[in-house]
Amino acid sequence: MSVGTWKKGLEDVVATGTKISFIDGEKGVLEYVGISIDDLARNSTFEETAFLLWNGRLPSAGELDGFTKDLRSRYELPAGMAGRLISLPPTAQPMHMLRTMVSALAMHDPEPNKVDVASAREKALNILAQAPTLVAFFDRYRRGLPLVQPRKDLSFAANFLYMLNGVEPTETMARAFDVCMILHADHGLNNSTFTARVITSTLSDVYSAITGAIGSLRGPLHGGANEGVMVMLGEIDGVAGCEKYVQERLAKKDKITGFGHRVYKAYDPRATYLKTLAKQLAEDTGNQELYAKSVAVEGVMLREKAAKGIYPNVDFYSATTYHSIGLKLDLFTPMFALSRISGWAGHIIEQLADNRLYRPDAEYTGPHGVAYKRIGER
Ligand SMILES: CC(C)(COP(=O)(O)OP(=O)(O)OC[C@H]1O[C@@H](n2cnc3c(N)ncnc32)[C@H](O)[C@@H]1OP(=O)(O)O)[C@@H](O)C(=O)NCCC(=O)NCCS
Repeated sequence: MSVGTWKKGLEDVVATGTKISFIDGEKGVLEYVGISIDDLARNSTFEETAFLLWNGRLPSAGELDGFTKDLRSRYELPAGMAGRLISLPPTAQPMHMLRTMVSALAMHDPEPNKVDVASAREKALNILAQAPTLVAFFDRYRRGLPLVQPRKDLSFAANFLYMLNGVEPTETMARAFDVCMILHADHGLNNSTFTARVITSTLSDVYSAITGAIGSLRGPLHGGANEGVMVMLGEIDGVAGCEKYVQERLAKKDKITGFGHRVYKAYDPRATYLKTLAKQLAEDTGNQELYAKSVAVEGVMLREKAAKGIYPNVDFYSATTYHSIGLKLDLFTPMFALSRISGWAGHIIEQLADNRLYRPDAEYTGPHGVAYKRIGER
């Protein structure tokens, strides 16, 4: 490798080809397998979207039915997992719980290390089906509430909200959550997806790849930003306080959480849809103030920063949406993970189908020929 050619953060380095998702950051376009995110959010379901990401095409009616039934048949945790979950400290953060327990699922798999494409699909389907059960069980356990077993007659979205709250969600709530799951399912070679592909490329197991990806996702520069948005909105004193709050932070050169994106220099297409959803839920739940504050913050930011390509990103309106759905703050990033497992799995399958070990190089920038000094001489 020639000296000085490395790119910090691998920015703009193309590390692989993929047929799963496409982003045009200048135009604000996101497609899964060529279908616009807008089209999917309006017409698809999370189950159908997961099939699309794993198979490179939409399913027939029979295939969708089979995939959905198969997913639902795996909602229940393997024997012993619930006991393990309720032995965790109730103060644990849900993302740490999820990372640990997805890793533990490998120990209930009789053949955890099988990494051919067909086996990877099987394992990914188990993880996709059981991750919501882990999150809902853990949240009820830490609240001191009895666990609510999953229901096979409910969709992925409705079943999760049912297990979490102990009551069936309204159709509007279940659909809103379903759309959130569709919007977060995949997004090019983001950090956690890259992590999953890197781990897979050693022919390590699917559980390791998804465990590693969860660890990557929880960072505040990645999936953790939606929690930051809620914290920020909480700090603002009513709609009237938005202008002053944003201006003061911009004057200090602070970044406003939920704005800006490494790839999008136009309105994030996921944010467009989430804004509509946040508005509708605010009206339905009477929780108008948070939405009104979000719109006011956006107004100031567009006036001040749109010329620089800074727009709301996916995290900005997902915070308001999740709040209206009734999710607690520390469940926001786990929600991202529940959805993104589908994208990670698509990339794991794609990586396995044409694998090459990721093994980049590093330019050594340290000294040479340094004499070893004995400990007493240092
Ligand atoms: C996501 C993020 C890391 C992208 O960073 P990036 O593409 O490297 O953009 P830069 O940091 O180079 O910013 C370019 C310019 O826009 C400004 N900017 C970027 N994001 C901003 C924000 N959220 N608020 C205010 N100004 C912002 C920068 O200060 C910089 O201004 P300058 O040219 O005067 O120095 C960044 O926008 C950010 O930290 N956003 C807030 C956190 C967040 O919401 N993350 C979730 C992303 S999905």
